[in-house]
Amino acid sequence: MTSLGGDRPPPPIPDRLSRKALGEAVQGCRACDLYEGATQAVMGEGGAKASLMLVGEQPGDREDIEGRPFVGPAGKVLDRGLERAGIGRAEVYITNVVKHFRYKASGKRRIHQKPDRWQVSACMPWLEGELEVVKPAALVCLGATAAQALLGSQARIGRDRGKPIESSLAELVTITTHPSAILRERGEAEREAAMDEFVADLSTVAAWLDAH
Ligand code: URA
Repeated sequence: MTSLGGDRPPPPIPDRLSRKALGEAVQGCRACDLYEGATQAVMGEGGAKASLMLVGEQPGDREDIEGRPFVGPAGKVLDRGLERAGIGRAEVYITNVVKHFRYKASGKRRIHQKPDRWQVSACMPWLEGELEVVKPAALVCLGATAAQALLGSQARIGRDRGKPIESSLAELVTITTHPSAILRERGEAEREAAMDEFVADLSTVAAWLDAH
């Protein structure tokens, strides 16, 4: 696997942006190498005029198979968090910074691998297209990959989570933990505490949306 983009073609972003056009065009993206091992690209999902956009890292095993974001174990945690914060999944547009699943094969299992920085950069035009179509009032980065891709390498979950962050991407921009990090907590009590913090961050966003 190469570590540099080399002479790869740019992402085939359509001239007329829409969710449908982006979703079709992304399947032909060869701007990085991740399409080689993935079943398909996974574009975001949700209302074209959703007021809230959630951005994760990349599709996981389940998402790669189903072609939809956050439908696997992390998606279940996200759904529970949204429900507890009083945000309907239908009100949000959910997507990822990287549209293809990066993994390492281990027997029959596919183990998630964090995308490299060049793969994230190569994929950014798709997210920029989604932002242009949806124009969300509020944007929440789920985890460090999304936060650093959208807000710069200085972004830190522990320090910045739940706070409004200065950005031109949306009226409210904030970051919180990635739902997978909640699943990785060792004990039941730790998982519950992490979930409570996640819900608190999402509740702040819900309160902001209610007031706007
Ligand atoms: N993790 C992500 O960041 N995105 C998904 O779609 C699924 C798991």
